[in-house]
Amino acid sequence: MRLRRTALTVIIIFAALLAAGAARASTIGFAQVGSESDWRTAFSADMKAEAARRGITLLFADADNDVQRQRAQVLGFVAAHVDAIVLAPVVVTGWTETLEKVRAAGIPVFLADRAVDSDPSLFVARIAADFNLEGRLAGAWLAQATLGACGIVELQGSVGSEPTIQRHKGFLAVISQFPNMRILHSLGGDFTSDGGRKAMESIIHSTDGLKDVCAVWSHNDNMLLGTIAAMHAAGLHPGRDQLMVSVDGVPDIFRAMLAGDSNMSVELKSDIGKYIFDVVQGYLGGRRDYPKWVLIPSALHTPADAAAALAKHGF
Ligand code: AHR
Repeated sequence: MRLRRTALTVIIIFAALLAAGAARASTIGFAQVGSESDWRTAFSADMKAEAARRGITLLFADADNDVQRQRAQVLGFVAAHVDAIVLAPVVVTGWTETLEKVRAAGIPVFLADRAVDSDPSLFVARIAADFNLEGRLAGAWLAQATLGACGIVELQGSVGSEPTIQRHKGFLAVISQFPNMRILHSLGGDFTSDGGRKAMESIIHSTDGLKDVCAVWSHNDNMLLGTIAAMHAAGLHPGRDQLMVSVDGVPDIFRAMLAGDSNMSVELKSDIGKYIFDVVQGYLGGRRDYPKWVLIPSALHTPADAAAALAKHGF
């Protein structure tokens, strides 16, 4: 009986020490993609604010869309002996060696937003939305809006990134069900407004003013906003002569909807710091039952709810 009581006491003390470990002001390294879009900027701001709210020391590294730099930044967190690393990887490939070094240092890794193609044992969990679903939602919305007949221009995000790969796949999976829906031209815009504008300027020129183009599908709002500027400069009417569809749900796309220049955006939540740090702090506190993918839900917005969506963002 005495032995059982002693064992129970030891277990309780151990659990309390573990919990205290998590509550201890931890130092977390956050390796961010860059600042290529309004969504990314909002996500970074949310992570910093949430870390401050929780008393977390956040070491923030901006890779400026350069995966080589990002890998070095992750190893810099190892050298700094952080308690955990949150990684939003620029591209999916080329991470195994770096993540193996992080594991050898005994530091847990959590993926946020994007994904890697390395063995899932190299990270605890990925907290992110379903990019493939976003592509399918955009394709389905366009199919119903055009009764399944549309020649489409696609603006692709950064080459090799998870959102570009999966949004393209998801969109194609739906429109390929409709014989009269097809992608006429697909150009990269690197998720930036300037990239979208330059890509569209080239397409307007090569299609003699978007002849036969019924819609523009952009992997994010910023490229679509750049596209809208290029179409206006060419005397075209985005949102009227061509349906304009994208992903992110940033404030400026809701403004474009209210101006009649955009027709639909699939929202990618940017205020996800609370979900990410819940998982990180739970893990540091001893929880081990997290799924490999903690799914963040998506929503869909049109001009019908653009004003309400802006108000919700506090704009
Ligand atoms: O990884 C998410 C994507 O990255 C967003 O849709 C885009 O705005 C950002 O560049």
